[in-house]
Amino acid sequence: ALASRQAAAAPGLDFVPIQPNSDDAVVVPEGFQQQVVIRWGDPILPGAPGFDFDNQTPEAQEGQFGYNNDFCALLPLPGRRRLMVNNHEYVTEEFLFRGYDSENPTEEQVRISWAAHGLSVVVLEDKKPVIDPLNRRITLTTPFELRGPAAGSDLLKTPADPTGTRSLGTINNCSGGVTPWGTILSGEENFHQYFAHADDVTDPVVAERLARYGISGGDTDRKWERFDSRWDLSQQVNEPNRFGWIIELDPHDPSSTPVKHTALGRFKHEGANIRVLDDGRVAAYLGDDEKFEYMYRFVSDGTVKPGSSGLARRHNMSLLDSGTLYVAKFTGDSPDEVDGTGTLPTDGEFDGIGEWTPLAHNDTSFVDGMTAEEVYVFTRLAADKAGATKMDRPEDVQPHPTTGRVYAALTNNSDRGPDGKAPADEANPRNSNKHGQVMELDDDPAGIRFAWRLLLVCGDPNDPSTYFGGYDKSQVSPITCPDNVAFDSRGNLWITTDSSEALGFNDGLYEVPLEGPERGHVRAFLSVPRGAEACGPVIEDDLVLVSAQHPGEVDGANADNPVSHWPDGGTTQPRPSVVAVWR
Ligand code: FEO
Ligand code: CA
Ligand code: CA
Ligand code: CA
Repeated sequence: ALASRQAAAAPGLDFVPIQPNSDDAVVVPEGFQQQVVIRWGDPILPGAPGFDFDNQTPEAQEGQFGYNNDFCALLPLPGRRRLMVNNHEYVTEEFLFRGYDSENPTEEQVRISWAAHGLSVVVLEDKKPVIDPLNRRITLTTPFELRGPAAGSDLLKTPADPTGTRSLGTINNCSGGVTPWGTILSGEENFHQYFAHADDVTDPVVAERLARYGISGGDTDRKWERFDSRWDLSQQVNEPNRFGWIIELDPHDPSSTPVKHTALGRFKHEGANIRVLDDGRVAAYLGDDEKFEYMYRFVSDGTVKPGSSGLARRHNMSLLDSGTLYVAKFTGDSPDEVDGTGTLPTDGEFDGIGEWTPLAHNDTSFVDGMTAEEVYVFTRLAADKAGATKMDRPEDVQPHPTTGRVYAALTNNSDRGPDGKAPADEANPRNSNKHGQVMELDDDPAGIRFAWRLLLVCGDPNDPSTYFGGYDKSQVSPITCPDNVAFDSRGNLWITTDSSEALGFNDGLYEVPLEGPERGHVRAFLSVPRGAEACGPVIEDDLVLVSAQHPGEVDGANADNPVSHWPDGGTTQPRPSVVAVWR
């Protein structure tokens, strides 16, 4: 067993799995070390002050590492330096401010929140952040360029931007990807929650579109609408259309304007990951993370220009402006045997075939009754019309770097069932699905058909509804709610989880081989502190980075009653952080 484990793990990452736990700590295997790389509030821009929880200001936060870091990327730089890029998905004000009055937030608190969102770019030396000219904060007020087929559309114009090509800031950036040309893609996910007064919208077409994206009600929880009218739908209705995109950032050029790529459609984007086709075109794989939403693929018209020069990068950053956007339909090969309990069909696998249905190509719509601009801006409505398959919350969808197979984390869907929007099917085989599944697709991005199978049906291995790629379930670590995926140099899949409280323990990072007799042998590598979600993993042979997002975020906790003191200990407030782990 030891020999096969060594074959499975990447060099330097041989490990004995950790046990499930509820510690207020990052737990790593014996023989491994860990160190916090950077915490919320650590200064990254010149002149930014050190973190001071009780005296935070918007100006300080604009120069400091943001809140709730999710996706993490590590890019090469000359010498020993590395360039780290992080998403800051969201803010929970109760954890930022003591005595937070949710009915009456102050303007200063709201501006701190705006500054705590976005992304950070920070140079690392020996796993430590350094102040460097490449360092940068992207916040909710950073100018972005809207590009691609919907740029300049009337649907994107607002009082502040009559051109429909320039928007301010990015929000709820969840996962992402590193492109082969050295830029960062990042998904704007749950942007709906920031827009107030949808109730006041009388135009039924606009109201239907807002509702399809979950934008409803009166005042928002955060009350931002009191301090900037762009969050107020009674003032204007197009600002939400300027969020829900895949953004692209060139972290090598701190003066560059980041881009929102309308060609990749608008939904609650988890992230985007690129595969280069043999002919040089690129495919981007995309998930819309909400119950019963869809998986998408974009294939570019243009081809990649080799090299890492600024010129090549500028060319390659245009690849995602023009191409075809598709949505996925899945068909099982044993549909009559799927009873919603997760019982394996008699052919021994949840598997079948699928097809990518084109929705639009630049100015051409393939969806009846919708213009191409409408397809790009209201992509969910287009996918509904195309009859796409309703999935169990698609999170990361990522191609394997050598086999090209695509791995999709479908995190969970408690509403799956005969009474929900859709009953179980072979791709989403459990009703009331608490634990999620991981799908494998054999996709040739030059075509439209693929084969698929479930690699994992997650949960406690003692639960008969689980499946671990056919591996002996008595030997695997329990795993639930897969969210982010990554690959090591030996081609193994690594998975972080979000919501392991579904099994009563902390979230973590898991390794699973994909080939040979070890396929499906899930092993827990590390866990993050109580209340935290594990995300953004970077897996290198001698270094793992993981994001510990929202440590201490459990029911009843807040800055006046913290239940986590990670990472600083004592009586300190919890701080979302990036952690480095190595042997
Ligand atoms: Fe922000 Fe889809 O997890
Ligand atoms: Ca089957
Ligand atoms: Ca996620
Ligand atoms: Ca998630």
